[in-house]
Amino acid sequence: MATSSTRQLLSVCFFLCYMPSLSNGRVTPNFKVRAVNLGGWLVTEGWIKPSLFDGIPNKDFLDGAELQFKSVTVGKYLCAEQGGGTIIVANRTSASGWETFKLWRINETTFQFRVLNKQFMGLNCTTGNGIDVVAIANTSSETFQIVRNSDDLSRVRIKAPNGFFLQVKTEERVAADSKGDGGWGDSDPSVFIMTISRRLQGEYQLTHGYGPLKASQVMREHWRTFIVEEDFKFISKNGINAVRIPVGWWIASDPKPPHPYIGGSLKALDHAFLWSRNYGIKVIIDLHAAPGSQNGFEHRDGFQEWGLSDQNIQQTVDVIDFLTARYANNPSLYAVELINEPLAPGASLDSIIKYYKAGYEVVRKHSQTAYVVMSNRLGQVDPKELFPLASGLERTVIDVHYYSIFSDVFNNMTVQQNINFINTNRTADLNLVTTSNGPLTFVGEWVAEWKVSRATKEDYQKFADAQLQVYGRATFGWAYWTLKNVNNHWSLQWMIQNGYIKL
Ligand SMILES: *[C@@H]1O[C@H](CO)[C@@H](O)[C@H](O)[C@H]1NC(C)=O
Ligand SMILES: *[C@@H]1O[C@H](CO)[C@@H](O)[C@H](O)[C@H]1NC(C)=O
Ligand SMILES: *[C@@H]1O[C@H](CO)[C@@H](O)[C@H](O)[C@H]1NC(C)=O
Ligand SMILES: *[C@@H]1O[C@H](CO)[C@@H](O)[C@H](O)[C@H]1NC(C)=O
Ligand SMILES: *[C@@H]1O[C@H](CO)[C@@H](O)[C@H](O)[C@H]1NC(C)=O
Ligand SMILES: *[C@@H]1O[C@H](CO)[C@@H](O)[C@H](O)[C@H]1NC(C)=O
Repeated sequence: MATSSTRQLLSVCFFLCYMPSLSNGRVTPNFKVRAVNLGGWLVTEGWIKPSLFDGIPNKDFLDGAELQFKSVTVGKYLCAEQGGGTIIVANRTSASGWETFKLWRINETTFQFRVLNKQFMGLNCTTGNGIDVVAIANTSSETFQIVRNSDDLSRVRIKAPNGFFLQVKTEERVAADSKGDGGWGDSDPSVFIMTISRRLQGEYQLTHGYGPLKASQVMREHWRTFIVEEDFKFISKNGINAVRIPVGWWIASDPKPPHPYIGGSLKALDHAFLWSRNYGIKVIIDLHAAPGSQNGFEHRDGFQEWGLSDQNIQQTVDVIDFLTARYANNPSLYAVELINEPLAPGASLDSIIKYYKAGYEVVRKHSQTAYVVMSNRLGQVDPKELFPLASGLERTVIDVHYYSIFSDVFNNMTVQQNINFINTNRTADLNLVTTSNGPLTFVGEWVAEWKVSRATKEDYQKFADAQLQVYGRATFGWAYWTLKNVNNHWSLQWMIQNGYIKL
């Protein structure tokens, strides 16, 4: 993902022939990465291959799904008053943070509801009757069921652990004391209209949704078939010289990763190294999913909790330690990317610097030659904020991701305006981070997709060419997101096979 950029064009001189230090390198001078990401392989992303989720029972209700409930009788939304820590009310006319409940799936019919301030919904057991609905528990405890109207799946009842259904007594009191037998019309205070405002489709959702046995089959089949040796042959024949491989933190405890993750992804990564060797492809390992989540993705419920403790940072360093140790002597290992897209301000500059220092050291413990890639933080940050750290270290690389999608500035751009944006604004962005004595620069994610509708093949070709020209000036290189994707333009394989991109 990318953020909007409104930087001034800087008259920075370009160092087209910038050369990394060659004293201890295994690379040839002027070698530049022209890579493709192997997205959606060892870290599941549902939008890349939606069919992976097809067989999950009750798959609307996966971990992290965000639900909002409008009472049919009062016409207002259920709300964790204050965002949590007190009662649940039903007096809000619109729904946002306080009115959103994140699911923890226990099994296909049983759930916990987590509110904005991270408490879990439950019943107030200190009242005499124990039926008032509150959000005060700090740890997961009480479970609920969601009963849908089979004729209109948006109409639901919520069954509490006492066996009764939630109902809106007044706008300021919600209690679990309805038998829920009043039909699905607008007069029953236990009926709510449910909206799913966000769905997560990561590896946690997939493996937990299937349960261990089925998940193991699905994941192993996916790892075995999604990326195969033939793909390395294909990319090597088509001008690609490296792969950036996203991995999740749980790979470091393969073959027995923590629940609900499934063992086996490490073996798949081993295969990738083998195939890379066979076809002369270099490998950039990319820690895409860090413990606690550095950006709200790849986690149980979308909260961003990476870097909040030293222990969490150390756990992440240990993952890098494990991976670098395993592949340091493999000639295909080219770079280790310490973490992908940490999101500011949740991932603070302090925590990321602390982590990058320790991560750099641990890579160097095993390898003098592997490049250490540091992803810039997403969000409103200074794109040179890592320079004081990275400039003092050998063989470091700053990773910037340039998309023309995830910002409103692209909303109404024409084909030509998009191309101008690449030529002018992205050139300026890249110039800003490209210095003669600083870290190398890497456009580690980009894609020839945009917000232009009804663009022709020729439009896409021009757009891709402009990006190849500009990102080709990054001193470390670039990587297309991604090799395979059901969305054609996001699939470099499809783009090459159909003549949209030629390298
Ligand atoms: C792109 O750069 C130009 C020239 O500096 C600037 O006027 C324009 O606002 C920038 N566009 C966006 C969308 O940031
Ligand atoms: C739970 O019930 C007790 C006893 O009625 C009351 O004092 C307390 O405020 C209630 N808790 C919440 C969060 O409403
Ligand atoms: C789901 O979990 C609940 C609570 O632990 C249990 O009572 C129920 O039998 C489980 N249902 C299934 C289908 O496993
Ligand atoms: C939950 O945590 C908050 C903040 O640490 C604390 O004030 C509160 O007492 C805790 N609530 C319960 C029910 O343990
Ligand atoms: C909703 O009810 C709570 C609890 O009585 C109250 O504090 C709050 O002001 C009410 N909010 C609105 C928008 O009516
Ligand atoms: C884009 O165009 C639409 C209709 O042509 C207009 O309503 C909208 O305000 C424009 N958005 C921006 C960001 O300029």
